[in-house]
Amino acid sequence: MRTRFSPRVLGGLLAGAAALALAGFSWSAQPSLDRAQFQRPKTIPHPDDNPYSEAKAALGRMLFFDPVLSGSQKIACASCHDPSLSWQDGRPRGIGEKIMPRRSPTLLNIAWVPTPGWAGQFEDLENVAFTPISSPIIMNLPEHLAVERLSAIPGYVWAFTTAFGSGPITKRKIELALATYERSIVSKEAPFDRWIKGDERAISSEAKRGFSLFVGKANCVSCHSGWAFTDASFHDIGTAKDNDIGRSKLFPSSVGLRYAFKTPTLRDVAKRPPYMHDGSLVTLEEVLELYSRGGIARPSRDPHIRPLNLSTQEKSDLIAFLRTLNSDPQRVAAPQLPPR
Ligand code: HEC
Ligand code: HEC
Repeated sequence: MRTRFSPRVLGGLLAGAAALALAGFSWSAQPSLDRAQFQRPKTIPHPDDNPYSEAKAALGRMLFFDPVLSGSQKIACASCHDPSLSWQDGRPRGIGEKIMPRRSPTLLNIAWVPTPGWAGQFEDLENVAFTPISSPIIMNLPEHLAVERLSAIPGYVWAFTTAFGSGPITKRKIELALATYERSIVSKEAPFDRWIKGDERAISSEAKRGFSLFVGKANCVSCHSGWAFTDASFHDIGTAKDNDIGRSKLFPSSVGLRYAFKTPTLRDVAKRPPYMHDGSLVTLEEVLELYSRGGIARPSRDPHIRPLNLSTQEKSDLIAFLRTLNSDPQRVAAPQLPPR
């Protein structure tokens, strides 16, 4: 039997349960899950107005790793979105020219995130690319200086021409190239994926119990859905308590969006503490503790968040499952930068 977890098929699930009960089927066995919904996608989506090209991705890769795009010439995108740390920086707050108000999120699977930013404050990936460069607290390089510096490096002039044809280097071209490269940042296969494909020995029985909790009693899947384990939407899970009100900054009249932040992907999650938009939880144990308590009860808290009162065993099973989302180790080499 195949089951899905949207409310619409729940009725069917119950009818199916009744039929199986009539047939003398034991419900002590876990109903088999629709594994298809967790299958890795075969292709990366690229928008029509910025289609993929190898030249654009190669240029974007150089720009991403190049500190020339910061005022001090010391900070690159990769300083805070570091491939060896699962594309974040392991710090509770991003630290550029100054300390940023939020944690650097992983860029894993960013191609599938429709509105980037912890509060979804960016329209698209192209839109976010120049913000860190010109922001005085992040990379602190004004647009005209960025264009001027790149235009003085022959290797970049050549790379921009190869990617976009002749004409001057512009802010828009920098955005298009960076976004194209960022879409290639995709989490690699993990033990969980091998299990989804049918290898029963790919994950432990503890992890399988954790997965059953994740999609069952704990209902984590109501927000951490699909192969990347995110609905790309915004929720208050009862954690934020400073004056960062999350998405409601954009929608001040909405009660539900107060303290709402984006559901992060759970791919590689065990490899990239600390957790949450403010880095306030240091370990996965602390995260499970929060969900077990149900966080701060307040009008904005998502209706799916309530005290789960998880046992010690349940918490460790859930963590065992989360660890199966760690992709196989891979080394991402920094590109050779054009000589200057
Ligand atoms: C000093 C650290 C730092 C640097 C340097 C930096 N970022 Fe970030 N980045 C952050 C932080 C912190 C956020 C979260 C901002 C927020 O949502 O308030 C972020 C968010 C993002 C997001 C949205 C991710 C998501 O999950 O929604 C993208 C995309 C991004 N950065 C790309 C870049 C690119 C491209 C560069 C280089 C041009 C860059 N960043 C440089 C710290 C940094
Ligand atoms: C109502 C939606 C919702 C449910 C249900 C939910 N989460 Fe989350 N989860 C989120 C949001 C939103 C965040 C980010 C909150 C923030 O940054 O303040 C988050 C953050 C996390 C993080 C930290 C990830 C990171 O990169 O910082 C982990 C781990 C996590 N959730 C696991 C779980 C587990 C396990 C369950 C079930 C026990 C669960 N979640 C249930 C929405 C949800």
